[in-house]
Amino acid sequence: GVTAKIAPSMLSSDFANLASEAERILNCGADWLHMDIMDGHFVPNLTIGAPVIESLRKHTKAYLDCHLMVTNPLDYVEPLGKAGASGFTFHVEISKDNWQELVQRIKSKGMRPGVALKPGTSVEEVYPLVEGANPVEMVLVMTVEPGFGGQKFMPEMMDKVRTLRNRYPSLDIEVDGGLGPSTIAEAASAGANCIVAGSSVFGAPEPAHVISLMRKSVED
Ligand code: DX5
Ligand code: ZN
Repeated sequence: GVTAKIAPSMLSSDFANLASEAERILNCGADWLHMDIMDGHFVPNLTIGAPVIESLRKHTKAYLDCHLMVTNPLDYVEPLGKAGASGFTFHVEISKDNWQELVQRIKSKGMRPGVALKPGTSVEEVYPLVEGANPVEMVLVMTVEPGFGGQKFMPEMMDKVRTLRNRYPSLDIEVDGGLGPSTIAEAASAGANCIVAGSSVFGAPEPAHVISLMRKSVED
């Protein structure tokens, strides 16, 4: 069976107070901290990189679930490994040929490999990465176009989640974008167990309520 992992996206936190924001949201019941790493090229936005992960790591032991929205993820493996990243999820759209090497290196740096797909990418693209000799351990189904928080959940992506859950009963399946109290039921019933949520958690008067509601939805 799969367990629920609620992963607030730190993109919606106050970056000027990252350590205290991380501590606050972990105290609200978060399992993972979702870290959105962007390069201004793969997506039209720029966020954080290894130096910020390294700084945050000094303040928390939490699982840092890094989502690499970058064109050259291989360049990030060593710096992020050193910085103390826990998960390393790259996009399938960028690495058709060298993903075997990429996954190998991610594992050799002690991180957990995952693969993400954009809304326009079909789910079959990730099968070889889950079924190969050197498999990824999580699939992230984007439920918005990557790049920005606060967008509207795309329910039509739940077909991908259902397809993956039928095919891989014990795989970690993460959803990212527009998740919150009004969309969690649909994602959870489709089979998602790792839930990223930025604006719905950090924008809530009581983030702990939102986190526990999402956990219940996945576990029921
Ligand atoms: C978008 C990022 C998300 C984002 C989610 O590119 O991958 O993790 O922070 O934010 P919400 O939950 O507000 O859609
Ligand atoms: Zn993300």
